[in-house]
Amino acid sequence: MTPSFHLRATSPTDQEQIAALYTAAFPEEDLVALVEDLSPKPGVLSLSAMIGAQLVGHVLFTRGRLEGRSAMVALLGPLAVHPDHRRQGIGKALIADGLTRLKAEGVSQVLVLGDPAYYSRSGFRSGSRIIPPYPIPAEWAEAWQWQRLDGAEDDLAGRLVLPSPWMRQELWG
Ligand SMILES: CC(C)(COP(=O)(O)OP(=O)(O)OC[C@H]1O[C@@H](n2cnc3c(N)ncnc32)[C@H](O)[C@@H]1OP(=O)(O)O)[C@@H](O)C(=O)NCCC(=O)NCCS
Repeated sequence: MTPSFHLRATSPTDQEQIAALYTAAFPEEDLVALVEDLSPKPGVLSLSAMIGAQLVGHVLFTRGRLEGRSAMVALLGPLAVHPDHRRQGIGKALIADGLTRLKAEGVSQVLVLGDPAYYSRSGFRSGSRIIPPYPIPAEWAEAWQWQRLDGAEDDLAGRLVLPSPWMRQELWG
């Protein structure tokens, strides 16, 4: 039987396991520095999936704003599940838990840059008109996705303002 997982807010003592998780989940991309830069920031929601004491999944949501607007928004990512524990609903559960927490705080919309075939399973729609910090290559346009949390139907508009760890062109394609 597959042991069950539980979700909880990330603890400072998880740092080593999180670094190992991202190295295993993204062998060709170095996301550890981004995760470590973001994790202590006050506007960042960090959730971990645990099987016993083993950290098997992790997600960050970075709160941001839209230039000239009062709505609160958040960016999902990175998200990683350990290769040995995939297809058990851990990724989906981490996303759902984050969205529930952000909705309770009054965040209006969440954005993600990722594979639409995966994120559409969690309610994201392709092609947000929100302007990211750096231009996304045309062939990735569908990967820039959005989801309202406040019950409204339309995609918000405006320029996305995020904390400094996200202000690196290579993170946007
Ligand atoms: C993507 C990832 C987070 C999914 O984690 P997970 O815990 O396995 O996800 P879930 O159990 O919630 O969902 C698994 C389902 O999504 C599907 N899936 C995974 N990646 C997918 C993708 N890129 N496109 C379409 N479907 C995908 C799986 O085939 C599986 O389908 P099934 O339920 O019909 O068997 C994990 O595979 C991972 O860490 N990948 C490497 C890092 C990465 O790519 N992260 C960001 C995604 S853009």
